[in-house]
Amino acid sequence: MSQRDSGYERKERDLYETPEWVTRALEPHILNPAIFHIWEPACGSGKMVRALESMGFTVHGTDIETGADFLERDCEPVAYEAIITNPPYVLATEFIEHALRQPVSTVAMLLRTDFDHAQSRSKLFAKCRAFAKKVVLTKRIKWFEDSKGQPSFNHAWFIWKHGHCGPPVLAYAP
Ligand SMILES: C[S@@+](CC[C@H](N)C(=O)[O-])C[C@H]1O[C@@H](n2cnc3c(N)ncnc32)[C@H](O)[C@@H]1O
Repeated sequence: MSQRDSGYERKERDLYETPEWVTRALEPHILNPAIFHIWEPACGSGKMVRALESMGFTVHGTDIETGADFLERDCEPVAYEAIITNPPYVLATEFIEHALRQPVSTVAMLLRTDFDHAQSRSKLFAKCRAFAKKVVLTKRIKWFEDSKGQPSFNHAWFIWKHGHCGPPVLAYAP
């Protein structure tokens, strides 16, 4: 996710670490007894991995920085029940498409809240039967602890569940 709190240059490879409260906001929406193992495929320093582990999930984190290009990898059947990440903004569409091709029941991506507005992305949202829920974060994410500026963007968790029935649900957090 590309972010620019005032006064900061964009980080190389979009290495923005997700604060713990943001990952925790996802918890009630993935508390599904069928999810035990999660793949975090753009884990950076592992902040989201640790937050998910603290919720009791077993999490495998990989990142291109340590040689694992998510877009070049497929997961083994039954290895994971969910793929959850904050993808690099410039590759977010490719990350969602690739994740939805994997043999997992659930995909959750942290994205800018208007990511689902574009007509060009309707195949991932309005026209995607697996698109199950949007969890709007009612607080803005401060990406840098010591940032003096105010965050510019709103974010939401977008959740796809294979086998989901009906229209997507809208929820608010925290
Ligand atoms: C926005 S950061 C998210 C870090 C972590 N998920 C978090 O939320 O704290 C995006 C991460 O994606 C990684 N990345 C960029 N392109 C990638 C790719 N093709 N495959 C895997 N990781 C990639 C970057 O190295 C960076 O660590």
